[in-house]
Amino acid sequence: EDGEVIFDSGLVSSDDMFCIYKGREFQSGEIITWCVTLWDESGKSEKSENAVFEIGLLHSGDWKAKWICGINTDKEERLPADYYKKSFSVNSSIIKARLYATACGVYEARINGKRVEGYVLAPGCTEYEKRLYYQTYDVTDMIDSENNIEFIVGDGWFKGKIGSDSEEYFFGRQTKLLAQLEIFYSDGRKDIIATDHSFLWCNDGPIGYNDLKDGIEYDASKMPSYSCYAVETTYEVAPTATNSPAIKEHETFTPKLLQSPSGKNTLDFGQNLAGYIRFKVKGKRGNKLTIRMCEILENGEYCDKTFKTLPKRGKSINQQIDYILSGNNDTFEPNFFYSGFRYALVEGMEEVNPENFEAVAVYSSMEYVGDFKCSNGMINKFVENTIWSEKSNFVDIPTDCPQREKSGWTGDAQLFAKTATYFADTSAFFRKWLKDVRDCQREDGRVDNVCPKIRPVNQRDMLNGSVGWADAAIIIPYTLWKMYNDDSFIMDNYELMHGWKQYVMKASADKTIYHLSDGHPMKSMKHVIEKYLLPDSPYNKYIIESGLHWGEWAEPLDVFDCSDPMFLVAPKQEEAAAYMHYSMSMLAEMLRYIGKGDEAAVCEEYAIGAKKAYNFHFVKEDDIVTDRQAKLVRPLAFGLLDETAQKNVAKRLNDVAISREYKVGTGFLSTPFVLQMLVKYGYVDTAYKMLENTDEPGWLAMVANGATTVWECYNNFDKDGHCLGHSMNHYSPGAVCGFLFEKTCGINVDGKNKFTISPNPGGTLTFAKARYNSVYGEVVSSWTKEDGKYIFNIEVPSNTKATIILPDGQRYEVEAGKYQYYCTAFIDQLLQSN
Ligand code: BGC
Repeated sequence: EDGEVIFDSGLVSSDDMFCIYKGREFQSGEIITWCVTLWDESGKSEKSENAVFEIGLLHSGDWKAKWICGINTDKEERLPADYYKKSFSVNSSIIKARLYATACGVYEARINGKRVEGYVLAPGCTEYEKRLYYQTYDVTDMIDSENNIEFIVGDGWFKGKIGSDSEEYFFGRQTKLLAQLEIFYSDGRKDIIATDHSFLWCNDGPIGYNDLKDGIEYDASKMPSYSCYAVETTYEVAPTATNSPAIKEHETFTPKLLQSPSGKNTLDFGQNLAGYIRFKVKGKRGNKLTIRMCEILENGEYCDKTFKTLPKRGKSINQQIDYILSGNNDTFEPNFFYSGFRYALVEGMEEVNPENFEAVAVYSSMEYVGDFKCSNGMINKFVENTIWSEKSNFVDIPTDCPQREKSGWTGDAQLFAKTATYFADTSAFFRKWLKDVRDCQREDGRVDNVCPKIRPVNQRDMLNGSVGWADAAIIIPYTLWKMYNDDSFIMDNYELMHGWKQYVMKASADKTIYHLSDGHPMKSMKHVIEKYLLPDSPYNKYIIESGLHWGEWAEPLDVFDCSDPMFLVAPKQEEAAAYMHYSMSMLAEMLRYIGKGDEAAVCEEYAIGAKKAYNFHFVKEDDIVTDRQAKLVRPLAFGLLDETAQKNVAKRLNDVAISREYKVGTGFLSTPFVLQMLVKYGYVDTAYKMLENTDEPGWLAMVANGATTVWECYNNFDKDGHCLGHSMNHYSPGAVCGFLFEKTCGINVDGKNKFTISPNPGGTLTFAKARYNSVYGEVVSSWTKEDGKYIFNIEVPSNTKATIILPDGQRYEVEAGKYQYYCTAFIDQLLQSN
């Protein structure tokens, strides 16, 4: 800082590539410049360019600002956006100016009429009762001698509709603002402009009703009057610095104009996405323009079935912009909402010029680090669609869908986490969300299904702690620890994982149907639920049989209908035993690693006990007799079976897949593993036939149906082409893309500075290439089929090693470098031999 070196590691002989800073802790406001020098094996060195980071306000005492609001209300009413303003002069030369800001709601700051850039939808989505982030902006270049600083505050996650029921006022009824502008002068002085009652306030500006889901009402003919003063208020949570990748605007799309059969102007942006629409418009003052966004057209017309309402519950949702023209050349800069859409219906405008509109994709700014390409263009399109579903659903929290619920469903996040990590650097994003999960954990260790929470604790509470969903508390830290070799994922989440472990142990011991107080609506179902209890065994204490659980969820309708109301009531012992084994094994490994051997031993007891329970109840004569793919994939993937059973179950999975004509039969939980298991047990041909199948239900069937994102359910249209109303932007089925990295091209991160690369060519593919810019550097694996030969090209990054295993058994231990290998056509026979 200021030229003073505060830490110099000197030359460290180590293969560590990150987390090497061992210096002092930093202070509020410090600006730190840093660089790294790397020496190679011949002693040649190179220094990186200087990079800079700055520390925010670390202590609550650093805040001079007061929370302010407009109308002091405790009523349930949705009000127009709040506008705040203050004028100030500056008469010395400035070295730097920083704005720190947050809101209960969503906010936007403007200095001298210009938007302060860096974040949209700030302060983002957290469990506001426990945690609230502030953002820091470098506004040095925005300050003049005479200045106006303005803030607009909307409802956002804090007050607007959230979750599957579109609950309103969940965190509060009153939006609030806290902001502090710090101006540092060259003479060493510092000014602070901090929110307090001297700020002007009004709510008669252009933005009226605004809601994250519903959209916005905007009257361009209005100017904020600033006719009142803000009121000082309080909020019990001290803000902390945002530490997740900022939500920002990214790709933009100009639409094609379509005329619907009924003559309506419809814009097609060509890509389903999460974001909003920016436009330019000129027309008569007071005229109203309405833009409704949707994911699909039905018979060529606007269709809101994928988001409007959830069957039988929840408040209705509109994804809509209502815009009143000013009579001048208007430019609409959207804020305070985002929608899931590809199309937009434009009403109230005689002539629509598509060039005046653009869709803006809005999502968390993670670095996209991986890609996959192969000779089957439809697979490539599916990969692209999966990346779009990742982008659309990584908006500060991992959501299930961007149009209907926008909720942090734990199950969806855990099953997609690894695949997501091949595509993007998810470390900071998940690190933040795991805090949300921790913030939501109950005192008894139970982990909610949706984090941050979206409904009052007493609503459908029996479903919270659902197996396979709440296990995200262990699966995600484990996955990130393995992929990023960063112990802090274990240490930071130790209490979370420990709590969840305590909870599952208690829940599996308790065979009464707990959480059913007298008068609870489910109480009348008690006798039904009890009927399902497993026959006695010495291992039942390792299986959760109480509570309600989602189970495999969303298997194709012809395999299993989970819309049957009895489906949720029926216990999910098979999933429960499997996840007990899976999660407890992971936790035991992490605990041993951090030296907590005693605790690890308890987890191991449960992991082994659950495996025995699984075999006792669900495996008969070394086999599992079912044609539900999920029930065969899970025990194989989680290592629940002994050797003979593994062979039998894998063979049955293959037979079932063939007799089902290679159509996908798995639901949410086992989709990530189905192709992996087929390949692992030698059924490469079946795996690729399933992958490449374009019949419904299947991954490529979505592509064949024109999808540009991944759908929640494989079947989303009835036989007459009517939309069934499932979301068209759920990443869960896209989890299968992990297979393309790990099996097709065979890239696996195998511990510190180490990869195992074992490609598995197959199907109609004549070429495949995966690139993954891992935390250790970029690893590439590709293969081509030429004249009956396979040529493999593999790149191993500096300072790492790899074990390369080719399909014909060739095996190499290599260091960093580029390698080429051949296999003869003989492997074709090998691959087809199943
Ligand atoms: C969501 C899911 C979620 C599920 C729970 C749905 O409404 O969209 O993705 O995991 O409920 O089963």
